[in-house]
Formats: sequence, C-alpha cells, structure tokens
Amino acid sequence: MLTLIAPAKINLYLEIVGDRPDGFHELVMILQNIALNDRLTLDFSDSPQHQVICDHAQLRDPAENLVYKAATLMAQTFPTAFGKYGGVLIRLEKNIPIAAGLAGGSTDAAATLVGINLLWHLGLTQPELEALAAQLGSDIPFCVAGGTAIATGRGEKLDVITSPPSLWVVLAKHDQLAVSTPWAYKTYRQQFSETYLDDPEQVPARAARLHSGPLVSAIAQGDSQQLAEHLYNDLEKVVLPAHPQVQKLRDAFAQAGAIATMMSGSGPTVFALCESEFQAQDLKRTVAAQMHDPELGFWITHLSSQGVHLAL
Ligand code: C5P
Repeated sequence: MLTLIAPAKINLYLEIVGDRPDGFHELVMILQNIALNDRLTLDFSDSPQHQVICDHAQLRDPAENLVYKAATLMAQTFPTAFGKYGGVLIRLEKNIPIAAGLAGGSTDAAATLVGINLLWHLGLTQPELEALAAQLGSDIPFCVAGGTAIATGRGEKLDVITSPPSLWVVLAKHDQLAVSTPWAYKTYRQQFSETYLDDPEQVPARAARLHSGPLVSAIAQGDSQQLAEHLYNDLEKVVLPAHPQVQKLRDAFAQAGAIATMMSGSGPTVFALCESEFQAQDLKRTVAAQMHDPELGFWITHLSSQGVHLAL
C-alpha cells in the first residue's frame, strides 16, 4: 500500500496570450505549490476494476472524478501491467476545496499517476508521467513536477524555477460558490479576444518577457514585497465583476494588511500572502470578522516547493 500527498497550487501569474488551434488558450503562468494537500492511499483491489472511495458528496460519481480517469488512463496505456496486477483501490481524503482554482482534482490525478507507476513497477520517468498527465488536464503536469514553474502552451509546458521564500498563505472561499473554468475562459474570449496575439510566432516573446521580468527576479531574490507587487491574473477581469463577493473578499484582505492578495486560477478562491503564521492568523481573524459570512471558509497554509510525493 502507498500513501501519497497531493498538494494544491496557486497561480502567482496568469496571462492569457491568445487562442490555440485546439480550442484552448495560449497561456503564460507561474504556478506555485502550497502545503494544503489531499491524501491518497493506493492498494491492490480484489476487483478487476479500479475503485475510488471518497467521502466527499460531489466526488462519489467515478465518471466525474479525475482520480478514476487517471487510473483508467494507466490501465489503457499499460494493459499488460493492468492484466498482471488488476484494479487499484484508491482512497481519497479530500482537504482541498473543489472547483476552487486550486487544482485540487488535478493534483489528485497526478498522485494517481505517480502512485500507479510505483505500484505496478512501471519505471516511468518524470517527463513520461508529465506527458500522460497532459492527456488528462492542462495543469496536471505541473502537479507531477511541483514546486514553482513557468507554464506555457495550454499550461502543460513547464520550466521549473527556484521557489520563492516560504511565505504564509490565507485562502478564503465562499462555500456555495464554484466557478466553472470553461465558463471563465469562454467569457474572457468573448470580452477580450481583440487583445489576443494574431501571430503564434509572438508567443515565445511573451514567455521570455515574464522570464526576464520583475516577478521572476523577485522570486529568485526572495524579495516578497516585489513579488507581491507583480502578482497578476487575467481571469480576475471576468470573475470579479460576475461575483462581487469575490471582489469584496479581495478588498477585505488588501485593507486588512496582506502583503498581497489575488484570485487563484479561475477562482473563486482568493489568496493573501503574509510574512508569518502569526500574521496569517491575525489576517484571517480580521477578514472573517469584517465579512461576517458563515458561508466563508478559510485555510491557513504556506508556499511549498514540493509537488506530489510519498508520505513518510
Ligand atoms: O485542461 P483543463 O481540463 O484543466 O481545462 C479546463 C477548461 O479550461 C478547458 O475546457 C478550457 O475551456 C479552459 N482552458 C483554456 N485554455 C487553457 C486551459 C484551460 O481555454 N490553456
């Protein structure tokens, strides 16, 4: 039996650069692991089928669960190993909020690929696992690689960079609010497609601009003030106007003295960066008291340089 830790991510930077022939968007991002994680245990099953056990009501349907899709992909790609070892029993302990912009489903899928690789003694390399991960979703290769990375293409092309200083993070999300990622990108296209690059040849220049820009240098130098000033997320332009409560939350974090605050991915989770755990606790208390909303969930965690890994 194996136990894997599957950490969430936040986006320190998300720029939508253009359309792609496959219907997705050309992105330039910085993805960053945080310590908040799900736990998966993988074991051989008595059944010839994969089984996923999860107590989260919204994840009971296997067809909707990326863990099941990842296990199915492994069975299809490695039929000999599947024939030899049979189905995998996967227990998923869910701690990362779902449909939250934190890659919760993606990191569970990444852990499933990593775990089955070990369980079936497949000997796949990290690039091979990342290639399988890209078949399941755009940010799943990052969850395999972990740490801090510049992601381009659909989000699957990674350039791992040095992780920033271990800042503390307060996450907040309205319980009943979920933002559909396809909706966010579709709405962005409707409103901002005139800003898209016409020429795909110009895309690498955008990635190079980020690479040599102030955010990456702030990360490299561990300059948290500079880092905070250059966080960016294009999807805020569509999600914040559609969900004023997310804007309100972001404003509350800014007023309460966070180093920086921003929506993660397609939202609706808002994160705020702090120098210490004490400051994070204080920030949470202040914002919770100000918002006075029983539907608002808070999590305190910190930046992490580790992607999916085996539990010790
Ligand atoms: O790849 P993933 O399943 O995470 O993508 C979810 C949705 O987000 C896609 O169906 C698409 O609508 C949108 N998306 C996009 N461009 C990307 C990544 C995601 O338009 N690069």
